[in-house]
Formats: sequence, structure tokens, C-alpha cells
Amino acid sequence: MKVNSTGRFRFERQSLALLEAALGRLEAGFTDLPPAADPPAGGARMGRVLAEVARRLQDNYPYFHPLYAGQMLKPPHPVARLAYALALWINPNNHARDGGRASSAMEQEAVAELARLFGWRRHLGHLCGGGTLANLEALWVARQLRSGGRVLASAQAHYTHQRVCGVLGLPFASVPTDERGRMDMGALERRLRAGGVGTVVATVGTTATGAVDPLPRLLQLRASFGFRLHVDAAYGGYFRLVEDLAPETRSAFHVLGRADSVVIDPHKHGLQPYGCGCVLFRDPRVGRFYRHRSPYTYFTSKALHLGEISLECSRPGAAAVALWATQRLLPLVPGGEFARALTRSRAAAVTFYERLRSDGRFIVGPPPELDIVVWAPRAARVSAASRRARRLFTEAARQGLHLAVAELPIHLFDLTGAGMAPDGATLICLRSVLMKPEHDAWLERLWERLEHATRALDRPARRGR
Ligand SMILES: Cc1ncc(COP(=O)(O)O)c(C=O)c1O
Repeated sequence: MKVNSTGRFRFERQSLALLEAALGRLEAGFTDLPPAADPPAGGARMGRVLAEVARRLQDNYPYFHPLYAGQMLKPPHPVARLAYALALWINPNNHARDGGRASSAMEQEAVAELARLFGWRRHLGHLCGGGTLANLEALWVARQLRSGGRVLASAQAHYTHQRVCGVLGLPFASVPTDERGRMDMGALERRLRAGGVGTVVATVGTTATGAVDPLPRLLQLRASFGFRLHVDAAYGGYFRLVEDLAPETRSAFHVLGRADSVVIDPHKHGLQPYGCGCVLFRDPRVGRFYRHRSPYTYFTSKALHLGEISLECSRPGAAAVALWATQRLLPLVPGGEFARALTRSRAAAVTFYERLRSDGRFIVGPPPELDIVVWAPRAARVSAASRRARRLFTEAARQGLHLAVAELPIHLFDLTGAGMAPDGATLICLRSVLMKPEHDAWLERLWERLEHATRALDRPARRGR
């Protein structure tokens, strides 16, 4: 993203020249092929269609810009974009080495780096379409190891767990959260004592607030009750690389590698295009559950084909190539460029939170454990604050600041301290996922727009008096 000398926004384009050069290099590997007619490319008709596509795509919020501070959306890194595009000239399929030899090897290398993030030298894992599919595979394996056992996840866990349990025919129950949005350990223990629990899903980075469930305590409970522990770190997993976290949060990341399975989504904080989730198992022997016969694939190599250890068949090799290239450029190491960008996102969230907290016009949710902030306008009662939050969302967008809205249980807010009457069980609040490192430098401009939007809310009321 660039702002040129006239102050107008422009997309970054210089890297397109790198794609052209890399394409030449790729082509050089196939010079022994006789020329073949290319599919028709270029031409005025295609230009017109592309122009129409560009026009249609204008109908989007500006996810790529720091003034978009709403949901979990950010653009892929340019190297991911280019590597993905480059791979499309081959269009490999990572189902089998027969469909994508190089990209299968690149997937295995990239996934091994993700496993090492959690301290795993041995593992079983692969990429997949996203967090939902990755969690489905983890719970599908859990079902075979804990047949009939109930799955528990916190009330703030992603809705996908309950839905996936429905698909898998697994009984599911949710565990209440504490005032910070983390799984309540007392409530969990009581539920475990009642018996019948096969798997507990801990969330490292809940979708709404970025809360991190207390893994050290969960591990103690696992030692007593013997359940399987799956960690949904789809959003938060990469924060393993960040030193500057609250001690409790940090302690969860320290022991994350003791989970039985972990999900991490490169298409959230890993700078990848959508369609890139990852499931990892600590014990590679779970590969036996995937065993199947395929009479029409797996014929050119005796080495492992990724289709032999994943539920999906065809998968984009380009996604693996993009991830491999990104991790090559930005290694997953503490203190590295990638880790520093995450640290900046978290710093932005902490600063933004403190500013909201010290401003009497707002009420804040739990302090951010990662880089997500939730807050609402203060009002005499919860219902009025919820209505005002919705209006503020719309008004902020009018001022060019794009936020998100979330409906959260009131126990995540100190209503008594704010003098607000609890006339409902939930509060509709504003939510900012500050996942672009540039947010740090843009905070002042974000705040200015929030200020204008907040003042604008009161204008019609004043006129009415
Ligand atoms: C914690 C968590 N788990 C799972 C998911 C589902 O992932 P996906 O949207 O990639 O399917 C999300 C999505 O936001 C998430 O935040």
C-alpha cells in the first residue's frame, strides 16, 4: 500500500516486475518442451472483463488499509501474492506428488516450520482450506481416540466447534467464561467431574476478544481426567513468537506444545491469501486414521502423498508455495521481522485500549491479550449503549473508519464501575482487530475519526432540545 505525492492511495505495483522475472525463471525449467498453443490471452475482450471485475471489486470495505480496523482481515504479504500467482502457471494439486511434486515438498517444509513454532520436531500435519476444516480434522481424529466422549469448548470458542461436532455426530457442551473471556476453570472442573468428556478444545485467541484459555491449568486437569486436549490457535498461534505478552498469556504459549493437536491459520496472521489453514498432531501415528485405498492416484512415488494424510482430496499447491515463500522471506523466529510486526499490532491494541479506558465516554472490555480491542459507548443502561454502539459503527464508517460490531456477554464489562444498569444479558459493542502492523503508526488518525464520529452522534440530540 502506498500514498503517492498527491496524497492519493495507490496499490503497490512494483513487485509485478518481480513476477515477470520469476516467470521467466520458471519457464527455463521447461525448455525441452515443444511449443504448444497457449490458451488465448490478452485482447480487448479480456481487458473489458477485467475492467468490469475491478469495478465490481470496488464494492468492498478497504480491508488492505489501516483505516480498516474491523474484523480479522488483512492483505497477504506481496511475496505470498506473487508466489501464489507464479504457481498458478503450473497450478499444482497437493493431493498427490503426481499432481504437485515441488509444492508438496514445499508444503511439508512450511508445515514443519509451523510445528517447530510449538516445539515439535516430529508431528503429522498439513495445510487445508482454513480453520473450520482444520478443526474438523482435529476433532475427527479425537473422535476415533475418544469414542463417544463429549467435546467441551468455551462459550467464547468459535461457533465452528459446535457445528463440526454436529457433522461428526459428537456430543458437545460449552463451558462458561470468566470476566476476561477465558474458559472458566472452576466450571470446567465441575463438568469434568460429571464424567463422559472425551476432548477439551482450548482457544488461543478467541475470535471476539483474542482471549487465551489458561493452558497450564488445563494441562493439570488433563493429567487428572485424561481427556484429549485440542488447541484452536487459528487466530492466536503466531503470537508464540511475541515476547511482550502479559505473563499469564505467555505461560499459555510456553506449554502450547503439550497439546495433542493444534490448529493455526496462515490465512489469518500468517500473511496468506484465504484458503490456508493448518492442522498439526503431536503424535504422527494418528496418520493411521486417514488410511485409504486410491486406485487412481499415488502412482509415481513411494514417498508420502499429502492426500494420504488429509481429508480433502484436491488442494491448491499454490497455497503451499505462497506460505513457503513467505516463511523463507520472513522466518518464524522470535525477534525477527515477522515477530516484530506482530509485536507492533499488539502494541497498537494496548495503546488504543488504554486511550479508550481513560476516556469517560467509553466502557472497555477485557484488556487485550493479543491485538483485539472491544469497547462500547457508555450510557445509563446496557440497551442504550448497544443502540449507541450500532450508531457509532455507522457514523465511524461515514468518517472513513471501519470498525466491527460484536455482541458479548455483559460479564466481560465492568458495568458497576461505569454506572450502567444491566437491562440485558449481552452488550453490543465495537470491536477492532488491529492486525496490521501499520495500525501502530495510524492510531492517532484512527482516534481522530472516532472522536468525530462520537461527537456527531450527539448533534441531532442537541438540535432536538
Ligand atoms: C479461533 C477461530 N477458530 C476457527 C475459526 C474458523 O476459521 P475459518 O474462518 O478459517 O474457517 C476462526 C475464524 O475466525 C477463529 O477465529
